[in-house]
Amino acid sequence: MDEIHFERGNPLFGVAQDLARSPDRFLCDLALRHDGLARFRVFHRHMLVIAEPDIAHEVLVSKWQHFVRGRQSLNLGLFAKGLLSMSGPEWLEQRRLAQTAFNRDILKSVDGVTAQAVEALAAQWDAERQSNGSVALGNGMLQLSMAVIARMLLSTTIAPDTALHVGQMLQRALQLVMRRNTAIWAPPIWLPTPDNLKFRSLRKALNHFIASTINDRPERGEGLTDLHATLSSARDPRTGRGLSADALAEETKTLFFAGYETVATSLTWTLYLLGQNPAVAHSVQQEIASVLGDRAPRLDDLPRLPYVRACLMETMRLYPPVYALPRLTAEDETLGSHRIPRGTGVLVSISGLHRAPVWGEDRDAFRPERFLKPDWPRRAYMPFGAGRHLCIGNDFANVEAMVALTMIMQRYHLGTPNTVGVRARITLSPDSEIRLPLSRR
Ligand code: HEM
Repeated sequence: MDEIHFERGNPLFGVAQDLARSPDRFLCDLALRHDGLARFRVFHRHMLVIAEPDIAHEVLVSKWQHFVRGRQSLNLGLFAKGLLSMSGPEWLEQRRLAQTAFNRDILKSVDGVTAQAVEALAAQWDAERQSNGSVALGNGMLQLSMAVIARMLLSTTIAPDTALHVGQMLQRALQLVMRRNTAIWAPPIWLPTPDNLKFRSLRKALNHFIASTINDRPERGEGLTDLHATLSSARDPRTGRGLSADALAEETKTLFFAGYETVATSLTWTLYLLGQNPAVAHSVQQEIASVLGDRAPRLDDLPRLPYVRACLMETMRLYPPVYALPRLTAEDETLGSHRIPRGTGVLVSISGLHRAPVWGEDRDAFRPERFLKPDWPRRAYMPFGAGRHLCIGNDFANVEAMVALTMIMQRYHLGTPNTVGVRARITLSPDSEIRLPLSRR
């Protein structure tokens, strides 16, 4: 059995401080410095980080049942019973039911719903850029993606202010979860410490937001064909069982929160990179003009926009919204030629895989063309994860992002945005607001 590099860190904390400071960078750099595999310790917890495509494949695909989601995925009850945090037979049953809701009929409405949301955003952006010359990119994308998920999931609309407020609450709640997960000891959640009280009140407010949004649906959901309605009538063909009321509420919450921030960050980074790379932006506009002219894209048009798609893929390679996948070894395991003891926390670093040597010398550069060739390294690319837990919303997200990007590029010339850094929050986000100069085409 081969030895894996062990990063010692501080005798007491291990690498807790580096991990808390910049989790994405730390994991990605550590793994890539040691051929894609390294061990470390956070206080008493032993962890393994992976950025080697074949070993990541073992964890997520061929041996997925041996690598379960650990207690960190439970997020202190934020999404306790949703697909994102579950494992094992309970997860499988719920996934089968949820899968029925993500069918082609749903995808057929994502294009129109996204088009409406872009129209609304463009009206707001036109006012904003006339007074400032530029727009607040991250906020705009957050509003857009929240409008789309609210309509698709619950047939409802969400005011832009509410969208931002809910987004901030979720960020704060997950930051508190992260702080606990990297602390040597955290007081039980029922103790009234300042952090616990803050967390509990955020959790309550977020639960209340979802419950009241479900309650306020037009006609209380009757006759609707949105994701919530489809989920609530779904039955497992083997058992005839559907989701309980609690499970339905948890799944709705999971889909709502999983479905907007990820898409918003990927669109934000794509427009940022296009603003910095005018030649690429020009080629995108040429492709769109030749395929669509000024017409809004429909689902069936998307395969004829390969360069638009390549820009989104390349952006998610450089800035994967979900930058690492946490798992736990339930038993002693073997990965490649390495033995991994039971109880080891495993982190597949998506950022590390996306910058692995297999991407070539120019792996840190923005080069969408690499996805137009047939031979790009598929195993080293997984913005939506891989294997059985593959993102259930990946087609949804791709349609939404392509339609939104196409329509924005049809309307605007992009100027050069201010330069920002990266901050690993729920997703890999810009560390400050991006102001994107825009002018109408
Ligand atoms: C660019 C957008 C998105 C990205 C990058 C993304 C990324 C991911 C990743 C990496 C996973 C795998 C998690 C794991 O293996 O533990 C995942 C799972 C999941 N995603 Fe997404 N996602 C996106 C959009 C969406 C949307 C739009 C929805 C819903 C409308 C969604 C719902 C989910 C759910 C429910 C899971 C859990 C799947 C399971 O374990 O069965 N995601 N996503």
